[in-house]
Amino acid sequence: MCSPEHFAVEYAINPWMDVTAPVDSELAVKQWDRLRETLVGLGHEVHLLTPGRGLPDMVYAANGAFMVDGTVYGARFKHEQRAAEAAAHRAWHESRGWRFIAPIEVNEGEGDFAYLPEAHGGVILAGHGFRTELPAHAEAQEALGRPVVSLRLVDPRFYHLDVALASIDDANVAYYPGAFSAASQRVLTQLFPDALLADAEDALAFGLNLVSDGHNVVLNSEATRLAGKLKAAGYHPVPVELAEVKKGGGSVKCCVAELRP
Ligand code: ARG
Repeated sequence: MCSPEHFAVEYAINPWMDVTAPVDSELAVKQWDRLRETLVGLGHEVHLLTPGRGLPDMVYAANGAFMVDGTVYGARFKHEQRAAEAAAHRAWHESRGWRFIAPIEVNEGEGDFAYLPEAHGGVILAGHGFRTELPAHAEAQEALGRPVVSLRLVDPRFYHLDVALASIDDANVAYYPGAFSAASQRVLTQLFPDALLADAEDALAFGLNLVSDGHNVVLNSEATRLAGKLKAAGYHPVPVELAEVKKGGGSVKCCVAELRP
């Protein structure tokens, strides 16, 4: 995770960002701190990346890399405003001694890649259409040695995979069908017949931008119906309030890069 000390909406690279809407940075830090404490309280270890001045989107730590089984496939941001974040993530991963593979293709890390270790023998789901470019899916497959399934995003409000789909455990996902092309919806139905489906309202409240450990599902507090569906399916929803970082177009998952050493 990376503190929102320097978080602001200074440019607009997704439909959620409104440069005229003020951000309460103190509140942003407070809400982000609550998220960090929530994860720690659930027994997870949280490492911190030092936020960079002049990188207001760095709080969205999920976009900096994608790690599977100790190998890190680096990010290459689409927009130059965020380009410098990639080096900070790289340096952090390399300082831990993990194998780092530098990308050639444009990709935004866990924003557009998800890994399900127990689904179909270990499968990577990858989004394209807005940020990550299709050739990066092949590059990730070569870097990580897992099959990559490409999914096309068609609604600009769901510009990253992780605002439209989330792994809720090692083998299953929750998603909002309307974010995907008709063909990609069919692919998802085939791969995940028991998936939990979110409605438009919960998806637009960033309910799917969640972090799950397979039991506890930390999600945006506004996605109340999705929380109910998770509960009915045997999960333990843990709502958190993240209204400030939402102004940049993200929520829980965007703030968390998962490590799979
Ligand atoms: N303002 C950021 C951007 O548009 C938000 C990134 C959200 N991160 C995510 N993993 N979806 O790049």
